[in-house]
Amino acid sequence: MAENIYPIFDRMLQREDRESLLKQRGTMIWFTGLSGSGKSTLAIALERELYKRGILCRILDGDNIRSGINNNLGFSEADRTENIRRIAEISKLFVDCGIVTIAAFISPTNAIRAMAAGIIGAEDFLEVYVSTPIEECEKRDVKGLYAKARRGEIKEFTGISSPFEVPEGAFISIDTSKQPLEASVKTLLEAILPHIQ
Ligand code: ADX
Repeated sequence: MAENIYPIFDRMLQREDRESLLKQRGTMIWFTGLSGSGKSTLAIALERELYKRGILCRILDGDNIRSGINNNLGFSEADRTENIRRIAEISKLFVDCGIVTIAAFISPTNAIRAMAAGIIGAEDFLEVYVSTPIEECEKRDVKGLYAKARRGEIKEFTGISSPFEVPEGAFISIDTSKQPLEASVKTLLEAILPHIQ
C-alpha cells in the first residue's frame, strides 16, 4: 500500500498547496494568430498588468522557446506539431506550479490547439484568438518575413503558403487593428481575472 511506503510527510506537495501559497489559480492563456498579429505585444502588456496586481506569470514565446529547447524544429506540419507539443508539456508544469502561463505561438490548426488543450487540461486553457487580418499583418511586416514569403524565399509561411485555421469557440477574440493596445488589454484583463483569482 502506498501509505506504508510513503509516510504522509514524504508526499509531494500538490498544485493546490502551491496555488494557496501564491494566492492565484494556475491558468493557461493561449494566444493564437498569424505572425505579426500582435500576440507577443499583447502577452507582454497583459503580464505587466497582472504583475501590478500581484499575479505571477510566465510568458513562453518564440524568443525563449524556438531559440532554446525547440531550436531543432522548423515549420513543417510535423515540426509545428512537435513545437506545440513541447510547449504544452512545459506549460503544464508551470500551470501545476500555480503560475499564469502565457503562450504566444501561431499554433495554426485546430488539431494543434486541441492537442495543447488536451495536454494542459481544457479547464485550465483559455484560448485567445488574435484575429488581426492578414492584410494588416502583412502591412506591418515587422520582421520582413511576409515580403520574403511573397518572393518565395520562405516556404510554408503561415497565411501565405501554409494554412491558418480560424479557431472555433475561442475564449476571446482580439483584433489589434481595431482598437489601441490599452483597450485590448483591458478587455483581456476583465475576461481573465475571474479565472485566476
Ligand atoms: S508555430 O506555427 O509552430 O506555432 P511559432 O509561433 O513557433 O509557429 O513561430 C512563428 C514565428 O516564426 C513567426 O512569427 C516568424 O517570426 C517565424 N517564422 C519563420 N518561418 C516561418 C514560417 N514558415 N511560417 C510562420 N512563421 C515563421
